Amino acid sequence: MLRVENLSKEFRNSRGRQRNVVKAVSNLSFQCQPGEIYGLLGPNGAGKTTTLRCLSTLIKPTSGNVWIDQYNVLEHGQIFRSKIGFLTSDMKLDGYFTPDYMMNWFGQLNKMEDCRIEQQKEKLFNDLQMTDFIHKKIDQLSTGMKQKTAVAISLIHDPEVIIFDEPTSGLDVITSKAVTDFLVSRADSGKIVIISTHNMTIAEKLCHRFGILVDGELKEEGTLSDIIEGSSWDNLEDVFFSYILPGGNHV
Ligand SMILES: Nc1ncnc2c1ncn2[C@@H]1O[C@H](COP(=O)(O)OP(=O)(O)OP(=O)(O)O)[C@@H](O)[C@H]1O
Ligand SMILES: [Mg+2]
Repeated sequence: MLRVENLSKEFRNSRGRQRNVVKAVSNLSFQCQPGEIYGLLGPNGAGKTTTLRCLSTLIKPTSGNVWIDQYNVLEHGQIFRSKIGFLTSDMKLDGYFTPDYMMNWFGQLNKMEDCRIEQQKEKLFNDLQMTDFIHKKIDQLSTGMKQKTAVAISLIHDPEVIIFDEPTSGLDVITSKAVTDFLVSRADSGKIVIISTHNMTIAEKLCHRFGILVDGELKEEGTLSDIIEGSSWDNLEDVFFSYILPGGNHV
């Protein structure tokens, strides 16, 4: 199980004598079980990426903690990292190399044995329908092909927890479906999947539970029916808008 406990993150910027504190995430708590897909929703600047970066050990929380079973992000960083696969739009792939080469490289970085790397490559390349382009240079790949490559690389070590920040952003419907079907298959095999997305249709179809984050605070949490029951709306998008639009009944 993954447990986020009272997570807060502040960024302190100083320009000259001026000090500016941005409260990106405030006192956030939620849990995810194996087999579950959790969707973090929120407008631009809500704190989704910051939360996912804290969960992925890339940045340290200002306070609070994150647990995977008995391991926490503050005390067991290395073990914690080995249990997580993180995909972010910031991931830059070197255009000179091929997906196949990159997978070998990241597999070795994760100290995996060669035969295990080969097994994982075969599985991920097949599941993500990548076999046609694994020996092409990344520079020559389309956006969707690059995204599939980034997905495969982030999961080479077969992590228990899959954390994807906007995994379908910029993808056509076919590639987007390939990625979301892939996430469903991973959850069905017992992984914990956490995604952020702006796409309510994908969120509704894909996620078992949701958190709606606004200004770094969790405003709503639960299954689709939990969220709709407590509101005067009958779909996720309208509940979402009620939190973020001026005049919405939650604002
Ligand atoms: N490194 C940083 N230094 C200072 N402020 C930051 C930093 N990273 C994020 N922030 C601020 O934290 C807040 C939350 O940003 P974050 O990127 O987590 O939002 P988001 O929900 O992922 O938004 P989007 O939907 O646009 O990706 C914003 O006000 C942002 O400006
Ligand atoms: Mg973001």
